[in-house]
Amino acid sequence: MTDQAKPQSAKLLKTAHTHMPMGVADSYRYWGEDKTVFVKSTKGATITDCDDQEFIDFRLAYGPIILGYRDSRVDEEVIKAITQVGTISGFSTELDSEVATLIKDLCPQIEKLRFANSGTEAVLGAVRTARGFTGRNKIVVVEGGFHGLYDEMMWKSDVDNWDANTQAAPEVAAFGIGIPESSKEHLETVPLNDLEALNEVFERVGHDIAAIVIEPIMGNCGSIAATQDYIQALRDISDKNESLLIMDEVKTGFRVAKGGVQELYGIYADLTTYAKAMGNGYPVAAFGGKKDIMDKINFGKNGVTHGGTYTANMIALSAAKATLTLLRDTDALATVDANGRAIQERLGKVFSHFGIEHRFAGPDAMFGIHFGSFVPQNYRDWKQTDSELYTEFAFNLINKGIMLEPDSREPWFICEAHQNIDLDWLEATAMSAMQDAIETHKAK
Ligand SMILES: Cc1ncc(COP(=O)(O)O)c(C=O)c1O
Repeated sequence: MTDQAKPQSAKLLKTAHTHMPMGVADSYRYWGEDKTVFVKSTKGATITDCDDQEFIDFRLAYGPIILGYRDSRVDEEVIKAITQVGTISGFSTELDSEVATLIKDLCPQIEKLRFANSGTEAVLGAVRTARGFTGRNKIVVVEGGFHGLYDEMMWKSDVDNWDANTQAAPEVAAFGIGIPESSKEHLETVPLNDLEALNEVFERVGHDIAAIVIEPIMGNCGSIAATQDYIQALRDISDKNESLLIMDEVKTGFRVAKGGVQELYGIYADLTTYAKAMGNGYPVAAFGGKKDIMDKINFGKNGVTHGGTYTANMIALSAAKATLTLLRDTDALATVDANGRAIQERLGKVFSHFGIEHRFAGPDAMFGIHFGSFVPQNYRDWKQTDSELYTEFAFNLINKGIMLEPDSREPWFICEAHQNIDLDWLEATAMSAMQDAIETHKAK
């Protein structure tokens, strides 16, 4: 994983290669033969790898950990539920409505909802429901957004291979092979915060747009955020064209505010997707919104089909109940925000010390770092930031015991347990990581 010898991790990867493609269970976990991480234990804000190196973790499993790893307040409720009731029965339980009520308490735009097991499933359910309700086909997505790994959402604006000096839009490319060309037939892609592009797409195909799907703060693109005006324009244009507005809050939900992104903007979606923070690391998700839209879910040829063997299982829902109760009744999110602010302050000091122009983007609970003179307004702008210096800096941090995704498109995730970290150590570590990064950068 790091420059330190990692004999145990190397051994585990070698064995895993004989069982799984790339030796990993998710391709994004493969960081190369000498850098792929195998975790031995987690607690609070710390992970320990199989070679006993400890890291303060700002990756937090791509965002689900909001309280801290192995939070006993959540784990004990899960253990109680599965030992007293069981894991699944293929029937309903009391927990279904208990968790739904908690979500509705925190998110006033949710009138009815359904559960799912992952963010991908929640998005799929929301999109299908929107199509069923409107009887339309097209889905508008935003460049740089990510909505999970199912065919239709596996088309990305290929900014990596795009020439920033051209006026042409980046190519919309598949995430790989195996994705049928036909799966993008109903997809329309627009840049964030670009009203002209939004109007153009609605003028062209507005009559067939079922929904706009957006991460208003792009948790997969350095926390670049929609402006208030843009979100209002999305709301207005959806209403005018009788299309639905779907906010994908898989990363922001129950993290950036108790009521997610929509509480921050004060503008509400027709349908919303949730996952990650709602279970503090247990696999649980949901989608929901207006009652008349959600009630399209029903049997028969006029109903939208939704379900699944593991939907609303006891592990997922007991974890969600415990996590959401804590988020509702305690100051956990205020602590997360305070932690995020303190960490940005220390990092800002380090960047300024070296005279590096930098901007933080997004909320304190999930902030992006961009090396450059302005906050990117969309994915194309991100290309103008010095992401190579960032990656250099990130790998040096990892070497020194600070875990994060070495790509500036992935934000820093903050949890309640970060309140216990040593900020002086963080600052000193970041200082030496940046010193090394600058030297390597210069040498290139
Ligand atoms: C905004 C957003 N939507 C959907 C997903 C897919 O979620 P999952 O990985 O749980 O399927 C992700 C995953 O990172 C996400 O960030």
